[in-house]
Amino acid sequence: MGRTHSNAFLQAPRFFQLPYQPVLRAVCTRNGQTAAQFAGNWGYESTETDWRKLVERDDIDLIDIASPNDTHAEIAKAAAQAGKMVLCEKPLGRTAAEARDMVKAVESAGKPNMVWYNYRRVPALVLLRLLLNEGRFGRIFHYRSQFLQDWTISQDLPQGGTALWRLDVKVAGSGVTGDLLAHNIDMAQWLNGPILEVSAMTETFIKERKHNLTGKVEPVGIDDASLFMCRFQNGSLACFEATRYARGHKALFTVEINGEEASASWDLHDLHRLSYFDHHDEGRLRGWRSIHITDSDHPYMKNWWVPGLQIGYEHTFIHQFADFVRSLESGQAASPTFRDGLATDCVTDAVLRSAKNRQWEKVSVD
Ligand SMILES: NC(=O)c1ccc[n+]([C@@H]2O[C@H](COP(=O)([O-])OP(=O)(O)OC[C@H]3O[C@@H](n4cnc5c(N)ncnc54)[C@H](O)[C@@H]3O)[C@@H](O)[C@H]2O)c1
Repeated sequence: MGRTHSNAFLQAPRFFQLPYQPVLRAVCTRNGQTAAQFAGNWGYESTETDWRKLVERDDIDLIDIASPNDTHAEIAKAAAQAGKMVLCEKPLGRTAAEARDMVKAVESAGKPNMVWYNYRRVPALVLLRLLLNEGRFGRIFHYRSQFLQDWTISQDLPQGGTALWRLDVKVAGSGVTGDLLAHNIDMAQWLNGPILEVSAMTETFIKERKHNLTGKVEPVGIDDASLFMCRFQNGSLACFEATRYARGHKALFTVEINGEEASASWDLHDLHRLSYFDHHDEGRLRGWRSIHITDSDHPYMKNWWVPGLQIGYEHTFIHQFADFVRSLESGQAASPTFRDGLATDCVTDAVLRSAKNRQWEKVSVD
């Protein structure tokens, strides 16, 4: 994620009119050689190998956290206490309790903060939200969403260490619930409002894996698959599913919403298209349209190429950072804030609780 964020810091001021120019003062990673290579490639002026040094520096206004989940809370709280603005990767905390502390820290420091739920900046999904807010869907009945991958199926895959920290529950907090479903949940609450209660089921298909850091075979504590049903405050029902065991699917994030007057669906493998069905269309012509989101009147698209030419995954981070920098001038917080990130962690907590207790669980936000 260090690359997607650095790319966004560099590209946002080139494609958007921004009130401030970001300066890449320093990058931090634990290995000095990697840090120097990264700094050279992306144009950072200096490097650090201990994030505490970064937080102490008075030539730095903003700390961006793109390290594994177990580092988020400690860095964010220290950065807020040092009076920095804080950006943090998702999930905000490994648990809602951890996220709640982080919210407290940034809110008492009174500093701008944001969580990198980047899919909120996919132009097709921004358009979907605008259409929903215009009331075109009428009453919402159903919402369904999946995030399917297939990269952990081999039982020889170890846990722990770079990238594979996702399989180590102490570092990740949970498995696909916090890693993948967190995206689906953030998107769902942004599009369709608060989730009130959930009934979930999780499974760990491979129970033991070698740990890269200890060299020993250790129990696997993460959920490999997570499914839940839920009720939204607006009365609609939903089902969600995430797994890393869906052979053939690499990053199939899907969203579908069905209302009284219209339906829409979207997936990440075809992210520049929104499928839309409008029941008000003349009967003979009624059907699903596939809207190619490249026109200058589509969200963010006037900043890019001519109509017909697409943008991709990295642009979502550029959009999000541009919105953040603009929010510093307008004073209106760019979403999702840490408080919004906490709202997602409250749902993932309820999902894990429900799977464990085998019963419906209410989402407790406070
Ligand atoms: N928004 C998204 O779509 C998205 C996608 C992938 C990952 N993420 C999130 O981004 C974060 C990082 O994930 P990743 O895939 O880039 O992981 P990664 O393992 O590829 O990279 C993590 C980096 O953090 C460094 N690091 C680890 N501990 C550190 C410490 N104490 N101080 C400084 N650097 C440290 C590692 O050396 C590594 O360079 C996670 O929270 C993850 O959930 C978000």
